[in-house]
Amino acid sequence: MAVISRAQVGIVGAGPAGLLLSHLLALHGIESVVVENKSREYCEARQRAGLLEAGTVELLRSVGLGERLDAEGLEHDGIYLQFDGERHHVNIRSLTGGRWVTVYAQTEIVKDLIAARLAAGGAIEFSASDVTVRDVTSSRPVLSYVDSSGAAHEVSCDVIAGCDGFHGISRPLIPEISVYERTYPYAWLGILADAAPSTDELIYSRHESGFALYSMRSPSVSRLYLQVPPDEKLEEWPDDRIWSELQRRFAVDGWSVAEGTVTDKSITPMRSFVAGPMRHGRLFLAGDAAHIVPPTGAKGLNLALSDVIVLANALRAALVSGSWELADAYSDTCLRRVWRATHFSWWMTSMLHVAPGADAFESQLQLSQLRYVTSSRAQATALAENYAGYQPVRFDA
Ligand code: FAD
Ligand code: DHB
Repeated sequence: MAVISRAQVGIVGAGPAGLLLSHLLALHGIESVVVENKSREYCEARQRAGLLEAGTVELLRSVGLGERLDAEGLEHDGIYLQFDGERHHVNIRSLTGGRWVTVYAQTEIVKDLIAARLAAGGAIEFSASDVTVRDVTSSRPVLSYVDSSGAAHEVSCDVIAGCDGFHGISRPLIPEISVYERTYPYAWLGILADAAPSTDELIYSRHESGFALYSMRSPSVSRLYLQVPPDEKLEEWPDDRIWSELQRRFAVDGWSVAEGTVTDKSITPMRSFVAGPMRHGRLFLAGDAAHIVPPTGAKGLNLALSDVIVLANALRAALVSGSWELADAYSDTCLRRVWRATHFSWWMTSMLHVAPGADAFESQLQLSQLRYVTSSRAQATALAENYAGYQPVRFDA
């Protein structure tokens, strides 16, 4: 016999989207349960994004999640674009009238959110199995799962939020969903290294051998990425090969990449994916469950959190005030932002990566575009405005 319980909102997935949604709903007095199929340790250690838009930072501060972010986050005024052996600075702060980006790892946001939810008595079921959602077109959808001790549960909800990432169970529950997809003919090999970054801000480098990104996690930890073929095997990339390729792709006179012990190594395929509508009945999708962008624009995490702000506002109107207008507009509101980020991410990706078989004509177009972006104020402003976050959404506190 399943244990039957009740929650206003059932949330599938304890990634950044699901956890922030639970936090924001609690601020509105709406109780939720988060059901996650991985362990807490796994969720807190999964290496992913690192760059927050100014609006994301402001949101996290305004909802009581700014303490460690302000102490440990690294605020950057701009980025470097490197091509043709030269490095150019794009000053995002001056181009956007004061906007910026902050390096603060997704792992840390997830830790902060889990700590905040548990301290407030929030319910998060880690290591759940057999997670299912049903009756989403009724007024009492059901979230069921088996907990880590083997007990079956059924939670009767007003609304269910599918925050379960790209491979989750929620998106397939939306019939006649439209999918727009593009796969790119390359992947990113990412490393984390105990090495003090030899750059003050991120470097996006286009090189004849492929793209490379120099990011960081702290004054003593670097995060670096290399464009590799889509079907590449990690075994092909011993540490020595990674460092020598990084030195090659970031080379400028009198400067080198500081090397150190590699503590994490992974390969991520690159894709754009947008699915809509993001709602069916009482089921709402948020974050990677509905859309994926290639990481070149640093948009995925920021988009996921923006969805959740829109959803929290809509669910307050629906569940506290009885007005479903914002909920009805949820999918369109989010998809407009998602497509802007999808275009920006595609643009950054195509400008900076070297596609297999690309000819000299294509190389010259990329270089011309990069020269344009680094010499025209209008072009640089367009990049800066998108990179720092276009039209940030506001949380109705
Ligand atoms: P997820 O983080 O995927 O969370 C979904 C959760 O649901 C997971 O915990 C999963 O275990 C759980 N789940 C799945 N299925 C089930 C199930 N059946 N039942 C219960 N739980 C389930 N974005 C940026 O904004 N900036 C960056 O700099 C950036 N860099 C990136 C670099 C890399 C290498 C990668 C891979 C991604 C990067 N991203 C970046 C993207 C960003 O990491 C994602 O967009 C973000 O994780 C989305 O959060 P989410 O909560 O929607 O999904
Ligand atoms: C990071 C990842 C990105 O995809 C990006 O564009 C910028 C930074 C990072 O992991 O730090």
